[in-house]
Amino acid sequence: MRRILTYGTFDLLHWGHIRLLKRARAQGDYLIVALSTEEFNAGKGKRTYHDYETRKKMLEAVRYVDLVIPEERWDQKVSDVKRYEIDAVVMGADWTGDERFEILREHCELIFLERTEGISTTKIKEELGR
Ligand code: CTP
Repeated sequence: MRRILTYGTFDLLHWGHIRLLKRARAQGDYLIVALSTEEFNAGKGKRTYHDYETRKKMLEAVRYVDLVIPEERWDQKVSDVKRYEIDAVVMGADWTGDERFEILREHCELIFLERTEGISTTKIKEELGR
C-alpha cells in the first residue's frame, strides 16, 4: 500500500483541484489531504470563503480522497510523513523548489505535478467580484 499526502486550502473547490487530487491519488493507493485550518490561513493573511469543516466535508466527498487531516503549522510536515507512514508527498508545481517541502526529500518522495492552466480560487473570486 503506497500512501500519498498533499497539502492545500481547497477553497471554492474547482476543476484544477479535482485534477490535482486525481493525479495525486494515481501516484499510490491511499490519499491523505492535509487541509489548512482557518487559523493557519490567517497567519498567511489568507481568508477562505468556506470554513474548515465545510472544506473538509467537500474533500471527503471526492472519490480520490481517503482521509482529511488538519494543516496547522508550516513545520508539521516531517511529523505527518512519519505518523501517517507516507511514501510520497505530491504538490502542484507552484511549490517546486520551496524549502518547506524540499526538506521532505530525506523522508519520502517529493513529486510536483503541473498545475491546471487558467483556474484558481483567487481567479474565481476576482472574476465573480467584478
Ligand atoms: N492546483 C492545481 N491547479 C490549479 C489550482 C490549484 O494543480 N489550477 C493545486 C495546487 O498546486 C495545490 C492544490 O491544487 O497543490 C491546492 O491548491 P490551493 O492553493 O488550495 O488552490 P488555488 O486555486 O491555487 O488557490 P489560491 O488561488 O487561493 O492560491
